[in-house]
Parts: sequence; C-alpha cells; structure tokens
Amino acid sequence: SQFKVLITRPLPTTLEKLEAIAEIEVWPERQPPAYDVLREKVQAIDGLLCLLTDQIDQALIAANPALKVISQMAVGFDNIDIAAATAHKIPVGHTPGVLTDATADLTWALLMAAARRVVEGDRFTRQGKWQTWEPDLLLGPNVSGATLGIVGFGRIGQAMARRAKGFGMRILYTDPHRAAPELEQDLGADFVSFDQLLQEADFVTIHTVLSAETHHLFSDRQFEQMQRSAILINTARGPIVDPAALYRALSAEQIAGAALDVTDPEPIPTDSPLLTLENLIITPHIGSASRQTRKQMADMAIANLIAGLKGDRLPHCVNPEVYG
Ligand code: GLV
Ligand code: GLV
Repeated sequence: SQFKVLITRPLPTTLEKLEAIAEIEVWPERQPPAYDVLREKVQAIDGLLCLLTDQIDQALIAANPALKVISQMAVGFDNIDIAAATAHKIPVGHTPGVLTDATADLTWALLMAAARRVVEGDRFTRQGKWQTWEPDLLLGPNVSGATLGIVGFGRIGQAMARRAKGFGMRILYTDPHRAAPELEQDLGADFVSFDQLLQEADFVTIHTVLSAETHHLFSDRQFEQMQRSAILINTARGPIVDPAALYRALSAEQIAGAALDVTDPEPIPTDSPLLTLENLIITPHIGSASRQTRKQMADMAIANLIAGLKGDRLPHCVNPEVYG
C-alpha cells in the first residue's frame, strides 16, 4: 500500500475504504499504548488515528514531523498539542456534530437521575430498604419549570437548551461569545454573567472545552455562589471542576448534588473520597456512547484520516491554518 497508518484502538466500524490505500496497524489491547510505545510507532507511519486517552504532545509530534495527519475520534482535542501540530503543518481532525445529541441526551439523563435520585433509589431498593410508600422518601427538586444554567453555549450547550425548552425551564447561559438574537429567542435562552448563572440556576451544566481558562473553572468560590439546592452536571472534561473543592461542597451540602461523566483524573482513582458520597453520580465518560453515534464518529475519523493521507483538506479540521 501507499501509506502506513496506526489506529490506537479497534473501531466500531469497517475499515475497507482505508484498507484500499493504507497498511493498517490496529492497537489491539484494552489499555491504550504507553506513551513511549506510541512515540516509537509514530515514527514509522503516515497517519495516526487516536483517541482522547492518547497523549499527543510536542515531543511525540516532533518524533515524526512528516506525519500527514492526526485524526482524533472525539470532538474534544485537549489531549493534542495543536500548536505543535500546526508548527509542523500537520492537520488535526476531530468529529464534531455527530455526537451533539447523544451527549446532550446523556447529560439530560444525569440531570434527571441526580434530581430525582434514581441511582440512590436503585441502591435503596436492592439493599432491601423499601418497606412502604412514604410521603418523604427520596425527595428531590422539580425539573420541570426549574432554572437551567448552561456554561458554554456551543453545539452541545444549545442542544441542552432545546431539551430544557420542552421541560418549560427558564434557560440561562454564559459563554465568551453571545449567541445571535434569533437563536436566543428560538431557544428561549438568556445571556447572563457567570456569577449570575451560578447564583440563579437550579441546575448548572458544563459544556465548555478544557483549556487554561477553564481548568478548575469550578472551585470553592463558584460552589459558594451556587444555591444550596443546586445540582452540577459535568459531561465536558473532568479538570474543569476542581475535585477537592467538589468534595468539600458536596460533603458540606454547600450544593445538593452532582453528576459527572468525566473526572480528574480519568479513570477516577478507586480511593477517591468522591466515591463515598451518596449525592454524587459518576458514569465512565460515556457521553457519546450510543451505537449509532460511535459508528458515525469512527467513520468521520476515518474520512479525516484518508483526506489527510491523500493531501486533501480534512472535512473536519481543528487547525485550518495549516492550509493558509
Ligand atoms: C468525548 O469526550 C469527545 O470529546 O468526543
Ligand atoms: C461540542 O461539540 C460543542 O460545540 O459543544
């Protein structure tokens, strides 16, 4: 074949189109390749298809500056040093759009589950504690008609607003960029400051990228501003929330509950104090994990990879400056 590629994990789709033009190595193990192994392998390939568990830093990219493409099967790309890739004119692909609804659906499931104590209720039942119908058993807040605060109003944040509209919620959002007035009106979403959102929301849901600006965006000061009845949901990236501060807030009932699909670090250490809390739900980074969505993500990552190998513009490129 013309090209050599490495795929860092078996993918939930077929590889025929890629096989036609490339010799493919698929990393077969459950754990991702160790950093040194990946850096070694990268030297012998033309294209890399990676996951968010692969650390693609400057040194790894410098190990093969002739790499034609880095294609990530995820929408987020905080694991990749984009500036280093751009400096070597290596295009980086990602998979936006196809996972927007799946991720918003999981976020909504967590919001509902945390509010109405679904996971606690399941534990309670299995532990044989259900003895009768009780007027005050496992009470939570209303979801319908409550105030939702959306932090980061990109595709997924907006998809949350669409869902919230159906529940008759008041919708607040904050973002570095204000949305167009027609979109705000269509979604019924009000642009507010981060502080106002923290103070007024019954549910706060995070949909920003992870960057230097958003690292530990949620820490003691933010939890102190939130209502004691408030629930935090994070399906974006773990390090946006300071885990020690979250533990303090939840154990002191500074806020009522939280639901996380992402943690810092991942996976969450089995001795993390967070795992002892009843008012916290944690799922293992499954926001985009519908069968249809994962296949679409894999197909999109392969399309980006093939375009990069052929020297064509990637259909979904993170750093289009490389074409400038
Ligand atoms: C998953 O977290 C993604 O970024 O696609
Ligand atoms: C990611 O897809 C986002 O824009 O929220």
